[in-house]
Amino acid sequence: MTSLDTSLSDPIPLTHLGLAGHSFTKELDVTVTQWRGLLELAAVLKHERRTGHEKPRLQGRNLALIFAKSSTRTRCAFEVAAHEQGAHVTYLDPSGSQLGHKESVKDTGRVLGRMFDGIEYRGFSQAGVEELASSSGVPVWNGLTDEWHPTQSLCDMLTMLEHTTKPASEISFAYCGDARNNTANSLLVAGAMMGMKVTMVSPPQLANPDSVVAIATKIATTTGARITQTSDVAAGVAGADFIYTDVWLSMGEPESEWDERIALLSDYQVNADLLGLTGNPDVKFMHCLPAFHDRRTEVGEQIFERTGRTCLEVTDDVFESDASIVFDQAENRMHTIKAVLVATLEKR
Ligand code: CP
Ligand code: NVA
Repeated sequence: MTSLDTSLSDPIPLTHLGLAGHSFTKELDVTVTQWRGLLELAAVLKHERRTGHEKPRLQGRNLALIFAKSSTRTRCAFEVAAHEQGAHVTYLDPSGSQLGHKESVKDTGRVLGRMFDGIEYRGFSQAGVEELASSSGVPVWNGLTDEWHPTQSLCDMLTMLEHTTKPASEISFAYCGDARNNTANSLLVAGAMMGMKVTMVSPPQLANPDSVVAIATKIATTTGARITQTSDVAAGVAGADFIYTDVWLSMGEPESEWDERIALLSDYQVNADLLGLTGNPDVKFMHCLPAFHDRRTEVGEQIFERTGRTCLEVTDDVFESDASIVFDQAENRMHTIKAVLVATLEKR
């Protein structure tokens, strides 16, 4: 750990974050100072847990976890974080509630706000999670929408800081692949908030939306971040400390687009050659997971049978290499989500 301070002792001075009662539907819901404060809080909570000194700060709270799309990490991170802090959770699966089928987001928010102290929502539209926040009157946390994945990018920033001796302002990361997706949008804005060198490497058709680039560029003027978009893999990854990729087809996108997406993104696959192009022998590989690095999934096997490909966005040798820090990322989902819960559910 470099720039993160784990020495903060009990009581953690949460009030300086000013996030009590706030929602976290996208990175822009918090200031740069609050964002960095959440990372410090996550580091403290992780340290407390590891040293057996965790204190439950959310006893008696009730949290609703709504998942309109499937999840392993995000659901488990919210559940374990809540339990360890003394809160109770109610899980609403993709088909088991009235939401969407018989009841609007607005009405659901008004109901859940009467019962719960906070609501996690994973779904499709960003407008949906924001409407849930405004209608429920309690903190709402975005567990992934089509546009943003802010608890992922918070985790990724913590993981980068843990795996370098550089201050955030000197960290360089390159994202290679589908840069139009939620993870890529969140990483671009998060990297801008951290003052990092951020390079988004993708074919032009799959570049971040202009609106997202505009947001990141504006933040960069205050944080000193350097933002580049390129379709040139060699130039884009040169000098990177971290190479990041995500699936080539996201949840909710039609399966019929697989072949076109594979054709567009084959040159952006993270493999040993691409890591070599960084020129950095200490480069680290990151992925939010799940990843198609082998044939051990139904989708991976179907794609193999159709295309002969044994992997997609990352090769198995890179995924399994010492450069890979993907499971440190997965663990950090829990610590960073715990920080979001503690900061936003703090008693005012
Ligand atoms: N990274 C991530 O959000 O994983 P899940 O889809 O398993 O929650
Ligand atoms: N972009 C991916 C992220 C999964 C965690 C998706 O939306 O499916």
